[in-house]
Amino acid sequence: MPVATNELIKTEIQGAVGVIRLNRPEALNALNHPLMDQLEAVLNQWKDDAAVRVVVVTGGERSFAAGADIKEMDNLSAKDWEKDSHLSRWDKLGRFPKPTIAAVSGFALGGGCELAMACDMIVASETAQFGQPEIAIGVIPGAGGTVRLTRAVGKALALELCLTGRRLGAREAYERGLVNRVVPVENCYSEALKLARQIATMPPLAAKAAKASILNALEEGVDRALAFERQVFYSLFDTQDQKEGMKAFVEKRKPAFTGK
Ligand code: CAA
Repeated sequence: MPVATNELIKTEIQGAVGVIRLNRPEALNALNHPLMDQLEAVLNQWKDDAAVRVVVVTGGERSFAAGADIKEMDNLSAKDWEKDSHLSRWDKLGRFPKPTIAAVSGFALGGGCELAMACDMIVASETAQFGQPEIAIGVIPGAGGTVRLTRAVGKALALELCLTGRRLGAREAYERGLVNRVVPVENCYSEALKLARQIATMPPLAAKAAKASILNALEEGVDRALAFERQVFYSLFDTQDQKEGMKAFVEKRKPAFTGK
């Protein structure tokens, strides 16, 4: 499908993979309201579009995203924020029902790091730098950073990063479990796309179910999470893809999944 340029993001459907490219290079892809409006609109559209099975979110080579737009918020008050749903867009991505992958090169700072972490998986280039530098401008991460970073790398490192603003290079991010893999910068997008395509060959209802159960496991206690997993597992036995997948295994052939 041809690339749709929405100014601040470019979108494209490649096979069954929806690609969102942040496109505000003059501001290092700072995530202002209009950009996040467009991102939210695309997610709303793709949520129920069977043609999109996996979403890749990427930026530029120099910068994935350098944060929420500081120039938009320098004069805001706490009351202004109460009336503003801007930060909830990061959660929209985090709770998007289909698998999501961030392909990150260069800066992933503040809201940019939070956007990458809102995705299910991160493919990082060797140049990627992750950080939550908000403390240096008098605030803290506001789009999930203290929550998702802590869950990904643990309390001590999350506190160090949020209290000092130190950036995590790609290797350290990999060693600490923040990213799935580190690749040369020229391969970052293609590697993310490859991973997305591999997942897109899987039965989509099972892919959604796996995601729902794993995200639920991060929020629930063990007993409730196990019960949820079992329910989701049972529910897949009412799908055609389960019948097809198991039949194909028994018949020693490749399954043909329909997403039903
Ligand atoms: N908001 C608005 N504009 C930004 C921006 C941001 N987060 N990050 C970069 N830009 C703009 C710069 O203002 C500059 O614009 P002008 O040319 O008009 O001056 C342009 O992008 C290029 O940036 P620099 O000249 O600063 O480039 P550099 O290579 O010298 O530095 C950088 C790069 C280290 C990433 C630096 O730009 C920087 O520190 N950016 C801010 C990072 C940050 O603090 N992010 C957190 C934002 S707050 C947040 O995200 C809250 C939240 O949790 C939701």
